[in-house]
Amino acid sequence: MELPPSLRHAIERALSGRRPADLAAAAAALSQRYREERRDGRLHVASDEDALAYLAVRLPATYAAVRASFAAIKQARPDFAPQTALDIGAGPGTALWAAADCWPDLANALLFEASAVFRTCGEELAREASLPHISWRTADIATDAIDCTPRDLVTLAYALNELAPEVRQTVLQRLWHATADTLVIVEPGTPAGWQCIIAARAQLIEAGAHLVAPCPHAHACPLVPPDWCHFAERVARSRLHRLAKEAELPWEDEKFSYVAVSRTPSSTTAARVIARPRKGSGRVTLKLCREDGSASEHLFSRRDGTLFKRAWRSDWGSAL
Ligand SMILES: C[S@@+](CC[C@H](N)C(=O)[O-])C[C@H]1O[C@@H](n2cnc3c(N)ncnc32)[C@H](O)[C@@H]1O
Repeated sequence: MELPPSLRHAIERALSGRRPADLAAAAAALSQRYREERRDGRLHVASDEDALAYLAVRLPATYAAVRASFAAIKQARPDFAPQTALDIGAGPGTALWAAADCWPDLANALLFEASAVFRTCGEELAREASLPHISWRTADIATDAIDCTPRDLVTLAYALNELAPEVRQTVLQRLWHATADTLVIVEPGTPAGWQCIIAARAQLIEAGAHLVAPCPHAHACPLVPPDWCHFAERVARSRLHRLAKEAELPWEDEKFSYVAVSRTPSSTTAARVIARPRKGSGRVTLKLCREDGSASEHLFSRRDGTLFKRAWRSDWGSAL
């Protein structure tokens, strides 16, 4: 996945004049903090250098994961056209850029972010872009109320796992109250990220939410550790991204887990492809999560006719 040109240019503008070696040092320190999953009350992004490193090495990946989650919602609910959005733990506004790309009718967005540095960075990114009208709030969602009228689209991307486990349920409750239609939660595609997602999924189903994606059912998740539900998006790396990461490849695969729920039931998907398809001559094996709540591999061969053609064209994350 490529970033939209306007976002790419805004990032290049923000990073211009920065020495790749400084970005690389800040990016390495940031990655270390994320890997440690430190929750000592301090924000991971607290300085300009941290925020710029995030733009260089993390935003392209989180954008890709959020945008892919939105694509799955759009496929499940082509009639959904949000006018208003609320993004919590917005960082530099990543989810807003993805939402504006997916739903061009989006008119108004409210972004909650605890880090003033990140907020300034997000305001600067959006300065010359044609985006919905944006209002920012500097707030700590672990303690502060979400005091706004419910919004059509509510997002919480790569932020749930940064909250202390004991406040997550309350935050989710507040988010659901603030949701007029659809709530999307995205997390890193790690076993810990998936645990956050399945706990949120169970809580939201209990609160009356309808699943939109990726699950084709509201039964308990059929995957059992060490397996976990996650997807992957291939992200193009810019020159600066490669330099900041001291990486050679022009792309990376971002693994992510997500759940999207709505107040409105949507038409159900028969099955979701939950691993990379394995293709051979005249055959393809898909790992499927099905509407009856089961998950297993299925081999499709040419004898399956149209179904084989659809299976062959499908990808990790596709609805079948
Ligand atoms: C990994 S970043 C994700 C940023 C953005 N959502 C994205 O996907 O690129 C996590 C964000 O959550 C914010 N955050 C963490 N704890 C928070 C809290 N208690 N209140 C508000 N924001 C918080 C952080 O400051 C950071 O911007």
